[in-house]
Amino acid sequence: MDRNTQLSRRQVVTATAGLLAAGTMPAMGPAMAAAAPRRAPKGFLWGTAISAHQSEGGNTNSDSWYLETHSPTAFKDPSGDACDSYHRYEEDLDIAASLGLNCYRFGIEWARIEPAEGMFSEAALDHYVRVLEACHARKLLPIVTYNHFTVPLWFAMRGGFEVADGADLFARFCGRATEKLGPLIGMASTFNEANIVLLRKVLPRFASAAAAANARAMVVAAARNTSSPQFSSMLFGDPDKISVVMLDAHAKAHAAIKAGPGDFPVGVTLSMQEIQGVGPDNLAAQAEQTIYGGWIEAARKSDFVGVQTYSRLRIDSKGLMKPEPGVPLTDMGYENYPSAIGATLRYAARHIDKPVYLTETGIGTTDDTIRVKFIDATMAEVAKCIAEGIDVKGYLYWSLLDNFEWTSGYAKQFGLVAVDRKTFRRTLKPSARYLGARAKANLL
Ligand code: BGC
Repeated sequence: MDRNTQLSRRQVVTATAGLLAAGTMPAMGPAMAAAAPRRAPKGFLWGTAISAHQSEGGNTNSDSWYLETHSPTAFKDPSGDACDSYHRYEEDLDIAASLGLNCYRFGIEWARIEPAEGMFSEAALDHYVRVLEACHARKLLPIVTYNHFTVPLWFAMRGGFEVADGADLFARFCGRATEKLGPLIGMASTFNEANIVLLRKVLPRFASAAAAANARAMVVAAARNTSSPQFSSMLFGDPDKISVVMLDAHAKAHAAIKAGPGDFPVGVTLSMQEIQGVGPDNLAAQAEQTIYGGWIEAARKSDFVGVQTYSRLRIDSKGLMKPEPGVPLTDMGYENYPSAIGATLRYAARHIDKPVYLTETGIGTTDDTIRVKFIDATMAEVAKCIAEGIDVKGYLYWSLLDNFEWTSGYAKQFGLVAVDRKTFRRTLKPSARYLGARAKANLL
């Protein structure tokens, strides 16, 4: 047990009493009561994560906007105005700061910064300068994601990351953005969930015959209607082709960002579900190989790895299994299984000898009491890992706001804060105050 992070009984009782008085502590069952909060290491990052496309609104030059707004589409809703965070970022940052968080992970949007090939928008870059300055003004360390799934429409129309020079174009964008934004960036990742395309090979919600046929029809129509030689979108393209080019893109982008200006850690975030093998001859090892591809190696060469965990995958001799009977499901249809967080943090520490940040985890639920319990369980997992000696440097909840949940649209709610779809009014949920109280006390 790490003595520095072990709290005295009195400290725990005092802090817990404060949270209870604030009405932010979840009702605890006997199992949860056992895990007393522990002091997080000094400098531990507490934050939330969000992406540009899912929150800003009006991302009209992106591939996703095109696919959402043309028929046939695999999207339940178009992103539209999203949370209007492009205009309301100060309000969002005020909320994050008022909760006592000390970092803010968000995306810069390539489709805004380079709306036509080779044409860079100084005005869009100036916007992100203002966002970064607003983070610093509130003492929120800005953690920037250079790509969170969406690409400019022109890039998708020329084959996206399925054509080799897509890597160079992405790196050029990263370099240009860094020229202006670098001095203000606190930490950055090239790609969000760089291996997402590979995960699609294993996950049923992407790989089911109906979903795959729907997505194919959408992309075929987009290619035809835009007269594109090879329309390719990260969430729907060929995983094998894309991942080869993205690995190259990550390496080149990493170098371009490191060239500065600015001097900050540059890493990559990975989608890391706990992979559990079930029964003899199970295919867990193959699934692991498929999902991570070359990304473990790529993360080893980066400054840090961002772990992003939402559940577990159980794999038997036939492949992915259905959720285990009796395990509660989230609104996304997968298991509410927070111990996967500890398992993936351990996995990352074991395989990638770099500082580990939990850059995303969260739960899609309309029942905020379930979210509070999930947050509580997350903190217990992180605390356990730290006590085991793993260098977990931060925990960022996905997401600050209820936002655009890709093909699932707006019905799925991951936010600590509700957003009125007409007025964009933000309303804090109890989970926001719960996480905030623990962040303020630095208690995992
Ligand atoms: C992605 C987010 C997404 C979240 C919840 C993560 O995989 O980075 O964009 O909204 O999961 O599904």
